[in-house]
Amino acid sequence: MSNLTQIVHAPNGVTYRQPTGLFINNQWVASSSGRKLASINPATEEEITSVYAATAEDADKAVRAARAAFEGEEWWSVVGTARGRLMLKLADMIENQQHVLATIEAMDNGKPYSQALGDIEEVFSVFRYYGGWADKSYGQTIETTRAKFTYTVREPIGVCGQIIPWNYPLGMAAWKLGPALACGNTVIIKAAEQTPLSILYFANILVEAGFPPGVVNIINGRGSEAGSALVQHPEVDKVAFTGSTATGKQIMRMASDTMKDITLETGGKSPLVIFDDAQIPNAIKWAHYGVMGNMGQICTATSRIFVHENIYDTFVKGLQEYTAKIQVIGSPFEAKTYQGPQVSKAQMEKILEYGQVARTEGARIVSGGKIADARPNGKGFYVEPTIVCDVQPHMRVYKEEIFGPFAVLVKFSTEAEVIKQSNATDYGLAAAVCTSDISRAHRVASQLKSGMIWINASNNSDFRVPFGGVKQSGIGRELGQAGLDAYSQLKSVHLNLQLTEQV
Ligand code: NAI
Ligand code: MG
Repeated sequence: MSNLTQIVHAPNGVTYRQPTGLFINNQWVASSSGRKLASINPATEEEITSVYAATAEDADKAVRAARAAFEGEEWWSVVGTARGRLMLKLADMIENQQHVLATIEAMDNGKPYSQALGDIEEVFSVFRYYGGWADKSYGQTIETTRAKFTYTVREPIGVCGQIIPWNYPLGMAAWKLGPALACGNTVIIKAAEQTPLSILYFANILVEAGFPPGVVNIINGRGSEAGSALVQHPEVDKVAFTGSTATGKQIMRMASDTMKDITLETGGKSPLVIFDDAQIPNAIKWAHYGVMGNMGQICTATSRIFVHENIYDTFVKGLQEYTAKIQVIGSPFEAKTYQGPQVSKAQMEKILEYGQVARTEGARIVSGGKIADARPNGKGFYVEPTIVCDVQPHMRVYKEEIFGPFAVLVKFSTEAEVIKQSNATDYGLAAAVCTSDISRAHRVASQLKSGMIWINASNNSDFRVPFGGVKQSGIGRELGQAGLDAYSQLKSVHLNLQLTEQV
C-alpha cells in the first residue's frame, strides 16, 4: 500500500481507507519536509493516524494549481449550469457516504456520532443548495442615458484560500466551498490541526464527482506555517476564515499586503435574554442547547444567559435539572451520549481553567467546573457540564469566549438594562430572546447589536439564511443568497451606442 493512505478501523466497526497526503491538482503528494501531524481521537487520547503537514512551499504549489485551474480553459468552460450539476452529483455522493464521513468526524473531533451524522446532512444539503444557485447569480442592466447600454456581470473572485476550524470540520468547509464553486472560483482549503481526516476522505469524492484538477486543493498543516503562507500568497485573491478573533485579526493584517477580499467569522459571547413572560420549559430547552450542544464548541453559543429576577431561581433550578437529566457523558459512538470529549487537551484545559477563574472571582458554580467523573475508561478530554450563577459584568467568565459546555447566568431587572448589558461587548455574532410578548420580541431584536437573532430559540440556524457577525465577530456573511456575494464580484460594462464618425 502506498504511504499516502492508511487503513483505519474506527471504534464502531467501520473500516476505511484514510488518505494522508496533500491533495493538490487532484493528486496525492507528501509534504516537501516530510513532516506530519498526528491526528488524535479525543475520546481515547490515542493517535488515529498521522497526515502530511504542508510547508509554505507546499502551500505555494497548491496556490499555483488553483491559479492554473482558474486561468485554464477546462474550468472556465464549465458554465453555471454544469457547475451546478457537478455540485448536485457531489451532494449525492456525500449522502451515499455519510456514514463513513460521520464516523471519521466523530472519531477525530469527539462529537457524538448522531450529531456528526446531522452535520454531514448539512454538508450535502449545502452543496445541493449552492448547486441550485450556480446558474442563478445574475448581473443587471442599468438605464443611464440614451447614448449608452450599461450592464453588470457577476464574476468569480479568483483563487480563494479557505481556513477551516475544528468544531464542524466538513460543515465549515462546505459553507465556504459551496458558494465558492457555485460562483466559479478555485480553492485551497487548509483544515484545522485537530481534525485533519474527514476533509481528505472528501477529496476523493470530489475527484469521483468529476471536478477538474486544481479546482479544489486541500492541505493540512499548522496555521502559523501553511495557513499564514496561504493568507500572504500574492496569487490568492480572497481569504475566508472561521476561528478565533485573535487569529482573524492576524489574518486580516496579513491579507492587507495584497489587499485581498476577506470574509471572517470569528468569536462570540452571545447573549440569551429570558424575560419573565417567557415559556419557561421552552427557554430551558433552548438555553441548554445553545451552550451545551456540540460540547459548547459553537461560535454562536449563547453563553451569557440573562434571566429576569422574577423567574431567576426557578430557571436556575430548571436548567440544572434538565442538564443533569439529558446531558449524558460517554463515548461518541454510544447511542445515548449527548456529550463527548472536547476536541483537544488544550481546549479541555482552557475550560477547566475558566472553572477556576469563576471560583476565584466569586461566582457561584452550581454544577460542574471540573473534569468529568463519568469519562469512559478514565480517559479522554471530558469536562462536566458547567453552570455558573450570579455572574457580574466585570468577571472574565462574563466577557471571554470559553468554547465549552459552560453556561454563565446573570440576573436582570429591566428591559433597558438588559439590552445595554447584552451589547456591552466587543463581540456581535448572535443573540437570542425568550418572551411571549411579540412586540417586545421584535423591539429587543431590533436593539441587540448582532448579526443574528433567535426568538424563543437559540442556535437553530439554517443554511438558507445568512450567517455572520458584526463588531469583532467578523466581516461578511456566509450561507443563503448573501453567501454568493462573498465569492463573486461585479464588473460594470458601459457600451457606447453613439459611435463618433468624424473627429
Ligand atoms: P484558531 O483561530 O487559531 O484556528 C482556526 C484555524 O486557523 C485553524 O485552521 C488554524 O490552523 C488556523 N490558523 C491559526 N493561526 C493561523 C495563522 N497565523 N494564519 C493562518 N491560519 C491560522 O483557533 P484555535 O487555536 O483552534 O482555538 C482557540 C479558540 O478559538 C477556541 O477556544 C475558541 O474560543 C475559538 N474558536 C472559534 C471558532 C469559531 O467557530 N468561531 C472555531 C475554533 C476556535
Ligand atoms: Mg482529532
